[in-house]
Amino acid sequence: MNICHEGPSFTPDFSPSVLPFSHMNEDYQPELEVIMRLANDRKVLSGASIDEDAKLHVLCIASSGETALSILSREEVAHVDAVDLHPWQAHMSELRRTALLHLSRDDQLRLFAMDPSIPRRGDEEHRKELYRSIRAHLPQETREKWDERIDKEIAFGLGHTGQSEIINHDIQEALSMANFDPLHHADPSSLARDSDFLECFKKVYCYDNFRKRFANLHINTQAMEEMIHRHLEVLSRTNLHENYFFHYYYTNYHIDKEIGLPLYLQEQAQEKIKLLGASSDRLTIHIGDVTKVAPQLFADRNKLYDVIAISNILDWIPESSAPEFVEVFYPLLSEGGMLIVRHETKPKSYFAALAKRTSFHFDPDFNKHLFSKERSLLIRDTVAFIKRTEPAVPLVTSNQLE
Ligand SMILES: C[S@@+](CC[C@H](N)C(=O)[O-])C[C@H]1O[C@@H](n2cnc3c(N)ncnc32)[C@H](O)[C@@H]1O
Repeated sequence: MNICHEGPSFTPDFSPSVLPFSHMNEDYQPELEVIMRLANDRKVLSGASIDEDAKLHVLCIASSGETALSILSREEVAHVDAVDLHPWQAHMSELRRTALLHLSRDDQLRLFAMDPSIPRRGDEEHRKELYRSIRAHLPQETREKWDERIDKEIAFGLGHTGQSEIINHDIQEALSMANFDPLHHADPSSLARDSDFLECFKKVYCYDNFRKRFANLHINTQAMEEMIHRHLEVLSRTNLHENYFFHYYYTNYHIDKEIGLPLYLQEQAQEKIKLLGASSDRLTIHIGDVTKVAPQLFADRNKLYDVIAISNILDWIPESSAPEFVEVFYPLLSEGGMLIVRHETKPKSYFAALAKRTSFHFDPDFNKHLFSKERSLLIRDTVAFIKRTEPAVPLVTSNQLE
């Protein structure tokens, strides 16, 4: 039985939440890999000294703030812009940043109801207390928004309320009822061939359930099938217990307080982030459409980006307009700079074919390496489109650099 099994009551009574995503179901490791690669090219670090002018400028989708915060742990990064169309995702990112700066690591886990030793149910007052202890540090608009939700998402546990997270709970519920526990299974890969296991996913990843769970549903039945496929694919990986998505998805908590945590929540990374800076002069959070905000930021500052990561937005862009969409970012990148894209629902060949219809360079070997870093249970491909106007230099991976 899962440690967190709470039955159907895990759905908050104010569902759907104002928040689409409590967590980022995307791995920050590909972003860090690209950052390492570019920093090495540009010799940001030489010996013990850092060339401040060569440090990297990054733009990413904010979502719940987790990737942006993990990126801040790298000293090679000068500044991160995190952008989101959805105001509540920006408010979530602000809250995570403020929690990191003003609470101990364990209190951050407790505020978001992600500490496995403190069951979510019963800790409502403590979560509200923790929120009250940091609210003065939030920007005014964000503070006013979360103040309105103190008896809702904050009391319920922000790590569990996102519309997307409720789907996780539906899976948990279906698996618990059918007596499946992937985390403690001797051979999780065999579950991918178990028709009863598959049935649990089919029950949850279906149109009727998604309609109920999401305020705005963008995906179709075929996309839901692709998502099931990816779940089963990940179960066959060898290093599952180092995959914090696997822990979280099947237990609802960050069950191990080191490898079971995303980087920004690991003690050492937290110290590094605080040392390097996580206030608004190193991480700026913006509300708006990234295709408008990114060109505007470039125009205002006249500073090119080295890395732009646009989540899996391309899942929602029709194939016919995808090249035009991607081209928006080309003039905003420095030479050799990379646009990181993901998808959850397309065929595996999609990005290679798309790149051919754009100005970007596509390196299949580097992209294969990049995707090997992606531990997410939802993402089917992660690649970098490279801005290259000068003759090619072979790309090396971090493994080759060691
Ligand atoms: C693309 S969604 C995907 C979620 C992701 N796969 C996950 O589960 O972590 C991530 C975020 O992108 C934001 N988003 C979607 N389209 C956007 C756009 N054009 N500009 C800025 N943000 C956008 C959404 O509001 C959401 O917070």
